[in-house]
Amino acid sequence: MKFSVSLCFLVFFFLETSAFDDDALSFLHYYRSCPDVEKIIHNKVKQWVAKDYTLAPALMRLHFHDCAVRGCDASVLLNHQGSERRSNVSKSLRGFEVIDDIKAEIEKKCPKTVSCADILTAAARDATVLAGGPFWQVPYGRKDGRVSIAKEAEMVPMGHERVTDLIEFYQSKGLNILDLVALSGAHTIGRSTCGSLQFRLFNYMGTGKPDPTINPKYLNFLRRKCRWASEYVDLDATTPKTFDVQYFKNVQNKMGLLKTDQILYSDSRTAPLVNALASQTHVFHHQFAASMVKLGNIQDYLSADDGEIRVNCNYVNA
Ligand code: HEM
Repeated sequence: MKFSVSLCFLVFFFLETSAFDDDALSFLHYYRSCPDVEKIIHNKVKQWVAKDYTLAPALMRLHFHDCAVRGCDASVLLNHQGSERRSNVSKSLRGFEVIDDIKAEIEKKCPKTVSCADILTAAARDATVLAGGPFWQVPYGRKDGRVSIAKEAEMVPMGHERVTDLIEFYQSKGLNILDLVALSGAHTIGRSTCGSLQFRLFNYMGTGKPDPTINPKYLNFLRRKCRWASEYVDLDATTPKTFDVQYFKNVQNKMGLLKTDQILYSDSRTAPLVNALASQTHVFHHQFAASMVKLGNIQDYLSADDGEIRVNCNYVNA
């Protein structure tokens, strides 16, 4: 009895204090204003992924690209001339129609309440689970940004960076080396256009030879598969549809598809982490979930604008 009274008090206290703290994300943010929000998102993601499995990795990547520019504020969803989404480097981003569909459904039930940034964050979590990955609790209360600039999309790593560039990029977002390696594990599913790796296959860094860190058989396969930049190739050559530790094993076997995957194994700061995650599924799952929470909590503290709850994820409110 005493225990449940103090528990009730704690829950009440948490609900009340979180209501006053505008910036903090909270697990109870939609507790009163849209209690079914997670159910709606989950059902929709499940329907879409059942129809087209490739949408699961697409949603995870879309969330990453959102959070990497101006924090997780749905700036990647804005669809106007000169926006991140219209940038050349965003051409292979997909899954926008899933978010639009979820938003339309939520607007019917809880108008002007749930941000597009929160929807995308939860959709990425549900997509991970549907692909066989871990579950984690998503805290809510993100606001949608009003600014989206094509040039800024180019700040997101594209696969040709050095390990130091990647580490610095993650650090600038408050994420560390372990987050970098664990989140790269998202490349255990999904695909890449050949354009992102062709530079490794024939004339790597002007040597006239391929990247020496590619396994010869795999190189042969990639050369045949990637005649055109617009072709697709699986990020995980061994188990492309399963969220497992095979991505890390591939990297150990010189079968990382992107340069930024493979170099994690040739740098002393990241290689021990690759080895650790390759050998223990539960550690990978646990760390991936923890790092995704950190990714999803990136907020743009520099922006003077407090943001809004967009009515349509494609456009700022009139
Ligand atoms: C080290 C930083 C990262 C780099 C350099 C990187 C690079 C890339 C590239 C080049 C592609 C293929 C793009 C194309 O179609 O040409 C890709 C795909 C993908 N990325 Fe990353 N990525 C990074 C981090 C992440 C993170 C943090 C996540 C998610 C948590 C993620 C999830 C994905 C997924 C799931 C795909 C496949 C998308 C699909 O199948 O549609 N990536 N990434």
